[in-house]
This record gives sequence, C-alpha cells and structure tokens, in this order.
Amino acid sequence: MNPVLAEYQARAERVLTHSLESLQTPAKLLAAMQYSTLGGGKRVRALLVYATGLALDAPLQRLDAVAAALECMHAYSLIHDDLPAMDDDDLRRGKATNHIAFDQATAILAGDALQTLAFELVAAQESGLSDAQVRTITTCLANAAGRTGMVGGQMLDIEATGKDLELVQLENIHRGKTGAIISAAVQCGAYCSDYVTVEKIDYLQHFAEKIGLAFQIIDDVLDVEASTEQLGKQKGADAALGKSTYPALIGLENSRHLAEKLYREAIASIESISDNTGPLLDVAALIVRRQF
Ligand code: IPE
Ligand code: IPE
Ligand code: MG
Ligand code: MG
Ligand code: MG
Repeated sequence: MNPVLAEYQARAERVLTHSLESLQTPAKLLAAMQYSTLGGGKRVRALLVYATGLALDAPLQRLDAVAAALECMHAYSLIHDDLPAMDDDDLRRGKATNHIAFDQATAILAGDALQTLAFELVAAQESGLSDAQVRTITTCLANAAGRTGMVGGQMLDIEATGKDLELVQLENIHRGKTGAIISAAVQCGAYCSDYVTVEKIDYLQHFAEKIGLAFQIIDDVLDVEASTEQLGKQKGADAALGKSTYPALIGLENSRHLAEKLYREAIASIESISDNTGPLLDVAALIVRRQF
C-alpha cells in the first residue's frame, strides 16, 4: 500500500483503539465490540475521511473522530451482515465472525453499541467539530446508515435473494447497502473542513457515488475470483446463498470493465476541488484495484 495511506490506516487503528478503550460497559460487550473493530480490515472508509479532509485542509482532530465513527458504523454493519439470519457467515477478516466467537445475542448487541458509539464520537467535545458541523455530519451519517441507506439496502438485498433481478434493481441495492456509507465517508470528511463549498460537495458527491458502486462491484467480483485466504472471508458465499451480484448478472469481465469506467468517472469529477487530491485518488485506485 502507498505509504501515505498506510500511515493513515495505522492512525485509524490507533484512534479506534483509544476510542474503544475502557468504555463503561459490560466486559463481554466491550470485548465483542473490540473484536470486530480492531486489528483488521482495509479501513477504506477511514481512509476516505482522511483523504477528503486532507484535500480540503480539515484539522486532523476532527478527521480522527469522524474516521473512527465511520469505521464503527461499518463494523456494526459487518457484524449484523454475518448473522445467521442474514448472510450466515463464519469467517470475517481472517477470523471467526462475531456471533461465532461470542454468541448471537452478544453480536447483535455489539453491533447496536457500535452504531450508537459512532454518533457519540461525532458529538463528543473532543471531536473539535463545531455544533453546526456535528449536526451536518450526524444527519449525513444517519441517512447513510439507516433506512434510506445501508439498512434499506440490506433489506432489499435479503428480499432479492434467490430472485432474478434487473441491473437497475441490483444497482439500487448496491448503492444502498454499500455505496451510502462510502459516500458518507467522503461527505463527512468534507464537512470537517471550514473551507467546504456547495460546489465542492457536489463534485465529491459525484466522486463518492461512482466509487461506492465500484466498491461493491469489486466485492462481488472478488467473491468469485479471490481465495478465502486472500479475502479473509468465505469465497463463493454469494453464489452459495443465491445472491444477486454483478458477475452473476453481467459476467466477470463486464463487471471489471464497469468498475474501471466508474473509477475513471469518479477521479475526473474531483480534478478541480483542490491541489491536494493525491491521497483521495489513491484511495479510489485502492478500491477498484484491490486484491481482497
Ligand atoms: C466489506 O467491506 C463489506 C462491504 C460493504 C462490501 P470491506 O471490504 O471494506 O471490509 P473490511 O473493512 O476491509 O474488512
Ligand atoms: C454487505 O455486502 C454490505 C454490508 C455489510 C452492509 P456483502 O454481504 O456482500 O458483504 P460481505 O461480502 O459479506 O463482506
Ligand atoms: Mg450481505
Ligand atoms: Mg455478507
Ligand atoms: Mg460480498
């Protein structure tokens, strides 16, 4: 990985470790929260927060809080996604899924607690965000994670299981279940800056929508092409469950081409937002060209 991104990946890990340290909560719940949040994952959402913030000269103190919030929200979505009632997966980030390592009740509660922790981190005094920024970021995160975003997309994903979908329906599911939180990472990173404008948000929104959809297309592709060891999750899980995916609908090659096209459109849309878009362009490349 590019050294600048590796530095921010490590930074996200440190901030998350600190955010999940000695929280007042039953020991088993804290252990389950830490288990699924620390020591793994590509940290793509945190990297998007940092990279967008860097492009718009946002203070690191604010980016730390928001990056950690996005990763907590993401970890919650993964814990619940893996539950027997959802995708019923045993392996995540190269280790047992939360409900296997703990139990289902604890996994559900750890997910719930991580979701609320995300909002707590944004609202905390230590985030260094202004009241207006807290309101904007909280609203953005709630819209992206809840019924109009990830949770809504997950509902459609479950309903679509075993059915033949049109491409436009599948695109809608992917934009919801995955694209929404990826977009929120970009937007919330931007809202940490005092120099954000409506015009810049528009360009970033365009970038994020393209890269968010590309992210899930590549996730679908890797489920077919990569190995269980590389992925740290069970290869072929989508086909086994009868999930609608891009490779199933348009084939592997077309899926990769589409992801590349979305990537090119994404990077073209942020050309003019600042003279420090390098890290953001690097995260976009990582999303589309990753091996796991
Ligand atoms: C996996 O996300 C779940 C999806 C939204 C497709 P990531 O591939 O970002 O998972 P980690 O955080 O790197 O483990
Ligand atoms: C999950 O999509 C998206 C969310 C976690 C919200 P997938 O079900 O394809 O993610 P993986 O493949 O299990 O990581
Ligand atoms: Mg799923
Ligand atoms: Mg899954
Ligand atoms: Mg998947």
